[in-house]
Amino acid sequence: MTEVEANGDGEAGVPPPKSETQDSTENNGNSSEPAVSKSALKKQARQQRWEAKKAEKKAAAKEQKKKETERKRKEWEESLASIPEDERTKFIESRISLRKERMEQKTLEKNSKKERLNKAKEQGQNVVVDLQFSHLMTPSEIRSLVQQIMYCYAVNGRCESPAHLWLTGCEGEMDDQLKKIPGFDKWIIEKENKPYIEALQDRKDDLVYLTADSETVLEELDLKKIYIIGGLVDRNRWKGITMEKAQEQGIQTAKLPISNFLKMSSSQVLTVNQVVEILLKFIETRDWKTSFFAVIPQRKRSQADSEGNTDNAVVEEEDEEEREQNDDPLTSKKQCVEEIPSNKLVDGL
Ligand SMILES: C[S@@+](CC[C@H](N)C(=O)[O-])C[C@H]1O[C@@H](n2cnc3c(N)ncnc32)[C@H](O)[C@@H]1O
Repeated sequence: MTEVEANGDGEAGVPPPKSETQDSTENNGNSSEPAVSKSALKKQARQQRWEAKKAEKKAAAKEQKKKETERKRKEWEESLASIPEDERTKFIESRISLRKERMEQKTLEKNSKKERLNKAKEQGQNVVVDLQFSHLMTPSEIRSLVQQIMYCYAVNGRCESPAHLWLTGCEGEMDDQLKKIPGFDKWIIEKENKPYIEALQDRKDDLVYLTADSETVLEELDLKKIYIIGGLVDRNRWKGITMEKAQEQGIQTAKLPISNFLKMSSSQVLTVNQVVEILLKFIETRDWKTSFFAVIPQRKRSQADSEGNTDNAVVEEEDEEEREQNDDPLTSKKQCVEEIPSNKLVDGL
């Protein structure tokens, strides 16, 4: 049976995950007991260290929050005490009304965002993130991808003309991680457990897989088309995997027209959130150059092309060489070179 048949979902060229015990040479001479490889044990230890660190961080954040609440309470009491008694009621009322105003403003913004996202469901550009690659990623790469997805959703929500985002192939570990995002169940997106090729089978002719390995250059965005982005954080070690997948499935492919507008200092393979942001910027401006300069960080462009915005938050992937030097993916900070500022995420959820 071929791999395509075995997977049953047309995921050609995608090898199954390597078994934890596959490369083991140690079973302590007992052939009936399954052997645990050194690398599996190392992985387990790393996972435990990461979990302990996470718990530590959580406790520290809780303590910090408690201190902050206490500080604010004291500050409030002090400012009240500094006001003559007959003016206190007025002062309290003005603070209450200010707070009410702010809350009303927030509600207005939230409702307007909901409206825009619901409208995009009907008339927006369809953009799919294909989540069928979780078995090819390390736990930290999956976490990085989840962060990128959170960032995409937040940025999309702030757009005047958002896209209609799809997450397809949400299964297993990927699905578990997505469900952990606070408020994820309220996101206005299309979440599909099925792969896009099944979920959108009646639109197969409109599917366009975006991949840096395509020969076709994307000139325009077509509202009738559905653009697919590979949900993969792989430091490009799975080179060409999305191109192969699209070819096997007989769907169109296209690459972003990066080289028409700028020179890159390294490869033209961008992260998921960068590609989504470029598409969103293009929807807004209909100008590729502006979109690339707004999203692609300066250090990724060659010197001659380094102009424009450098103030964007992206989740960068380290290259192959860096990854090899850094063999502890669970504890490494390099894995996610630039952390997305948490305020940028929270207000989009
Ligand atoms: C980190 S890349 C994954 C690279 C992966 N090795 C592959 O073969 O696609 C994430 C996704 O962003 C999209 N992408 C990245 N750079 C692109 C480019 N220059 N043109 C079109 N799509 C791109 C692709 O859909 C890609 O799968």
